[in-house]
Amino acid sequence: MQVFHEVELKDWHTLAGQAVARELMIIEAQEELQALNAGDVVIGSGSNVVFLPWVEERLVRLNLFGVSVVDENKAYVWVRAMAGENWHAFVQEMVVRGLGGVENLALIPGTVGAAPVQNIGAYGVEVCEVIAQVEAYDRWKREWVCLQASECGFVYRGSFFKSRWLTRYVIVAVVFVLRKNPILRLDYAELAQYPMPLNSIEAVFFAVVAIRQNKLPDPKILPNAGSFFHNPVVDRAVLLHLEESYSDVPRYVVDDNRVKIPAAWLIERCGFKGYREGNVGIYAHHALVLINYEGGGDEIYAFAQKIIAGVQARFGITLTIEPRLIGQNKERFDGTD
Ligand code: EPU
Repeated sequence: MQVFHEVELKDWHTLAGQAVARELMIIEAQEELQALNAGDVVIGSGSNVVFLPWVEERLVRLNLFGVSVVDENKAYVWVRAMAGENWHAFVQEMVVRGLGGVENLALIPGTVGAAPVQNIGAYGVEVCEVIAQVEAYDRWKREWVCLQASECGFVYRGSFFKSRWLTRYVIVAVVFVLRKNPILRLDYAELAQYPMPLNSIEAVFFAVVAIRQNKLPDPKILPNAGSFFHNPVVDRAVLLHLEESYSDVPRYVVDDNRVKIPAAWLIERCGFKGYREGNVGIYAHHALVLINYEGGGDEIYAFAQKIIAGVQARFGITLTIEPRLIGQNKERFDGTD
């Protein structure tokens, strides 16, 4: 275990805002998790967080690595990956081994341990579809648990780990169930219309990598946290109302009564695509991505509120922020706010 104090967080998250953490703990062995308290905040590789200028909560990073096959039968292989593994490297390894199920999720930034928390999803697949179990440390009861996927409350971009269990479980490892004879998932428009034949998981993997590299900015060059807003789920009545003014509203069907509208479309229609104010802006090539040029978390948050207000005023739809907001504005912490 390593413990650092007054840590500058710029290099610890992909939005790269100026922020300082009171304490950062690096966990290097599973048993060390017993030192954690409910108030500690576990971060993965920092690809889905906004840090406000001062982080009073103790931050914890899990440097727990390893990938192994735990079971198999004729059709499936169960693979256990430790929380600290890089997500994309894990996907790549599964593709190389010929195991199907995660190839559509290539190049999503972050760690294996963070994947179930927000139920990462892309190109027609959500990670919950291939999760068998989640192994975690229960900070409330101080015991190790193995949760079945059906218990985890997975929904679009969410799970109980992000809501009712936020202060309870720390994910240690995830067991995935992958197919020996992959079923390709090509229903998402950009894959269905891909200019090359997609007839293997390798082909899908490379197509997803190419699509993402083409439209999402590299955080090392333009600091960002991927999608900054959720795609709002609305009643069909809201869609019908929108269609009175816009005949081309894109949507994904959620169920008989609800559709998901791309937040990028709403933001672009408000004229915010490529819009920049001070140190923060909306990416010019994809309106769902917020770019931090040199701002701090407080500036990012204020900018996001402006986007939310603009979309609300124009469409009556309230966007919600996808990354987790951690920490405090310094003034508030100093008692001057
Ligand atoms: N669109 C615009 N303007 C833009 C970009 C997109 O109007 O600047 C509209 C287009 O109609 C497009 C639609 O939005 O067809 C959807 O865009 P896209 O396919 O890029 O997907 P998204 O809904 O914006 C979601 C995920 C992404 C994931 C893609 C692909 C969320 C919040 N985001 O984005 O996830 O890669 O689908 O499956 O659900 C991430 O979480 O970091 C992330 C990138």
